[in-house]
Amino acid sequence: MSRPTVLRVPPLSPQLHDAVGEQYDALDLPAEGRPAFLAEHGAEVVAIVCTNGGQVDAGVINALPNLRVIANHGVGYDNIDVPAALARGIAVSNTPGVLDDAVADTALALLLAVRRRVVVADLFVRAGEWQRGEFPLTTEVSRSRVGILGLGRIGRAIATRLEAFGCTVSYHSRHEVPGVPYAYAASAAELAASVDNLVAVVPGGASTAALVDREVLDALGPTGVLVNVARGSVVDQDALVAALVEGRLGGAGLDVFAAEPEVPAALADLDNVVLLPHVGSATHETRAAMRALTLDNLASWLDTGTLLTPIPE
Ligand code: DGY
Repeated sequence: MSRPTVLRVPPLSPQLHDAVGEQYDALDLPAEGRPAFLAEHGAEVVAIVCTNGGQVDAGVINALPNLRVIANHGVGYDNIDVPAALARGIAVSNTPGVLDDAVADTALALLLAVRRRVVVADLFVRAGEWQRGEFPLTTEVSRSRVGILGLGRIGRAIATRLEAFGCTVSYHSRHEVPGVPYAYAASAAELAASVDNLVAVVPGGASTAALVDREVLDALGPTGVLVNVARGSVVDQDALVAALVEGRLGGAGLDVFAAEPEVPAALADLDNVVLLPHVGSATHETRAAMRALTLDNLASWLDTGTLLTPIPE
């Protein structure tokens, strides 16, 4: 019996790439010559597997007349043209729930690293500077006021961790979240004005583009720290670089950037920023769980026509 044909959109981890190949007839979307490839093979494809670095735009979707499902390896799915998929009745899944702890840990790691200057202190020791004098004092995360932009699953996992640090947690989301013990701010700027540290964890996409703009950064101010574990698009990156360079913002911990893997050169010259290569969910444990859920969604749709974790409506 012939197996369904699944299009693998790069980049995929070798494990996910190989697992798809073991279970299905797999094709790889090439980096070059896509129109010719899609014209030749498009009709064979019933499913796509992708991750946040791989764009699945309307051009790809509409070149696949028999496409029925897109299984995204990641909770964020701003890499997919969802309206184009839904217009054709194509189902889309993501991987919520399994990466909350890893991303929350990353947010805390960034906040601690910036506030306690962990990276700079490490370089200080390695350079032998300790012998010449003490490292300058830093600022605590414990008992600080932390604002969370986006109180979904990951935001709540961050809040729980911050409670253990004795922090005062407040948040801004599109809607007030019932039943949480955190103060709600009506806007991102209002939230930023009332906290020491701001953590962005909203979904990417048009509705959150540049949510953290100059007004928000100035409200956070010269002693404030921004942590972004969401998407680069959530922050006006030019405004962020300017605020840091001009000393209008105290520091930043960034796991995501506007045009990954490009990182503004000016950031690399600053010692009050910590830069990570989008590794929020990148642990062995979490990536295995994300991979399993991606494959389970695909199998579920192909077997029963239902997804385990469809993207929110
Ligand atoms: C996600 O799942 O959206 C994360 O950004 C992947 O690391």
